Amino acid sequence: MLLIGPFAQILPLTDMPIRGPLQSKHLRIIENGGILVAAGRVVDVGPFQELQALHPDSEVQFIDTPCVLLPGFIDCHTHICFAGHRSRDYAMRIEGQSYLDIARAGGGIWDTVTQTRAATETTLVQEVVARAQRHLQEGVTTIEVKSGYGLQAEGELKMLRAIRTANAQTPATLVSTCLAAHLLPKDFAGTPSAYLQWINTGLLPQIQQEGLSNRVDIFVEETAFSAAEALPFLQAASIAGFELTLHADQFTAGSAQLAVAVHARSADHLEASNDAAIQALGQSDTVAVVLPGASLGLGMPYAPARRLLQAGAILAIGSDWNPGSAPMGDLLVQAAVMSAAEKLSSAEVFAGLTIRAAQALGLENHGVLRYGHFADLQAYPCADYRDILYYQGKMKPVKVWKEGVQVV
Ligand code: NIG
Ligand code: FE
Repeated sequence: MLLIGPFAQILPLTDMPIRGPLQSKHLRIIENGGILVAAGRVVDVGPFQELQALHPDSEVQFIDTPCVLLPGFIDCHTHICFAGHRSRDYAMRIEGQSYLDIARAGGGIWDTVTQTRAATETTLVQEVVARAQRHLQEGVTTIEVKSGYGLQAEGELKMLRAIRTANAQTPATLVSTCLAAHLLPKDFAGTPSAYLQWINTGLLPQIQQEGLSNRVDIFVEETAFSAAEALPFLQAASIAGFELTLHADQFTAGSAQLAVAVHARSADHLEASNDAAIQALGQSDTVAVVLPGASLGLGMPYAPARRLLQAGAILAIGSDWNPGSAPMGDLLVQAAVMSAAEKLSSAEVFAGLTIRAAQALGLENHGVLRYGHFADLQAYPCADYRDILYYQGKMKPVKVWKEGVQVV
């Protein structure tokens, strides 16, 4: 057994209600804490000296500068499997063109589809591993990764296989999602509904057969798929055994309620959500995933995170890291900046980056420091947890552990 500590503070995040607003009292801070780890799992968390007295034979990793320990962050929404970049789109946007206009003119997602189709699986593996490494250095130990830049069998399967191979090559845990329903591909000869039907009958069985993913996502938007087209697609995917998640209400309201109606794990984006959507999410188990990185990348308003919490929603925060709308990929900076604008407390932000994000991915044993849960940990170089958001993400963890093994 390994005893790590002492830490100035440990935030185990074990006593946080899964939904609604949170305050500092929910953090249950342990001062001068230690954590006992065995076989990659947490055995105990408590005052360092007590743990040392109880387990005198355990090996000790001594922390000799003041640090605050948190569970590793979970980024529950990314598109980090891609080739190339889209700085030209970004330049066009800051010169005044909109994301949807650029998409209509043939740029946007389709540009990355072309570049990703042309990349080899090996290149994609390297890209994912490198981005996962950057995330690990920033304390993110579990990362959801979507396909969606292939949009035909070959490209989608290549992406999902690359994510699986990358998962074996990085210490981070990668959770894959099929986003073949990202856009109607220009080279598909048929209607949006016919394309979605092809995903249901032609692609998902193959994904299941190879065990590549058990999650399905769809972009419901004017430039992508309508709610009416999405409904039968999502129902069929669910019947086939896939968990559902939606890109909902990013520019146009209406699809968050669809996410709730089909019992999706999460409804993500929500920048355009109206009162009805906020109420629906507030009363459902569908996690409301907000993506401040997309607001920053597009220069658009944030999702109504405060109002979602007040309505009782399970609020998680993801990076949406992708080459188009959210190229920065720094989850903590994004969450901290949104927290200042939306008035999210430290407890709400940390829950949104850990236990509530685990809920969005249906992951058990992740996101809190409790007996039997994975020892995914990160230590910040400060004595007071409030410093973490105060520096707005500039302060990074000095040590990160994945399943009890130090990786940073
Ligand atoms: O979540 N909105 C749709 N999909 C992504 C963007 C992908 C891209 O622009 O490449 C998003 O923002
Ligand atoms: Fe996205």
